[in-house]
Amino acid sequence: MFRTADLSVEEINNLLQQAGEFSKGKVSKAKTEIFVSNLFFEDSTRTKTSFDVAQRKLGLHVVPFDVSASSVNKGESLYDTVKTLKSIGIDLCVIRHKKEKYYNEFEGIDISIINGGDGTGNHPSQNILDLMTIHQEFGKFNGLKVGIVGDVKHSRVANSNAEVLRKLGSKVYFSGPEKWFDEGAIINGTYLDIDDLIKEVDVLMLLRIQHERHDEEKVKFSPEKYHKKFGLTVEREKKMKKNAIIMHPAPINRGVEIADELVECKRSRIFKQMENGVFARMAILKTALEEKGFEFK
Ligand code: CP
Repeated sequence: MFRTADLSVEEINNLLQQAGEFSKGKVSKAKTEIFVSNLFFEDSTRTKTSFDVAQRKLGLHVVPFDVSASSVNKGESLYDTVKTLKSIGIDLCVIRHKKEKYYNEFEGIDISIINGGDGTGNHPSQNILDLMTIHQEFGKFNGLKVGIVGDVKHSRVANSNAEVLRKLGSKVYFSGPEKWFDEGAIINGTYLDIDDLIKEVDVLMLLRIQHERHDEEKVKFSPEKYHKKFGLTVEREKKMKKNAIIMHPAPINRGVEIADELVECKRSRIFKQMENGVFARMAILKTALEEKGFEFK
């Protein structure tokens, strides 16, 4: 699974249904030995850990892979690393890599790959857990208004969420510094000033400012100014619709994208998203492995 946008509506709904069942306690275990490994070439807390938990819940054998202690450091290529793991007996890899579309390198290797994030490209498991969180709340996507705010240009979540939400019938708005907009934002959404957007939306999806992907801008960036001009301040939160929810893929820059005291407020679903991440990833793993012929009971 590389990009959520490549999935049909039926496939998305199937993943959401399975994730929902797992969240309600459904148990499913692999019938045979299946070996999986998680290769994170970029840092991660949520994605890597929740894939690990999801894999163990499904009865998979998780083979640790520490990029920093691997032969990657001797110059071994990504292709050779994955080909090697396949030869050793790994059936599925979850990979996060800074290179966009890194997965195109693996054509010809008979192994399941789940994209744990490719540069500023895509983050499909985050998309599915986000959709799950929205659906749990509203029971639908059609007609919902979703605002995506912040560092759109450097986010692998923003455009893929926007694309798939539009496909499912939601109306998408963007806000934040215009220099951080890209073509995807223009195609998939409508720009609104944060103070207009905040009153409109059912879902407010805040994005982390990805300083690690900025170069010259880091020097000039003022967290206080950003918060005041584009962030979810305590004053702005009061203007949100009664049942509107706040989401953020995290990690969070507290006091920048969102006021510290709002991170765990009543309408925040930020930690719910993390909880749902395990169930969404169970559904993704099981589906990918079943496509390869593995069976679960
Ligand atoms: N949301 C997310 O991808 O978090 P991590 O970078 O911690 O995996």
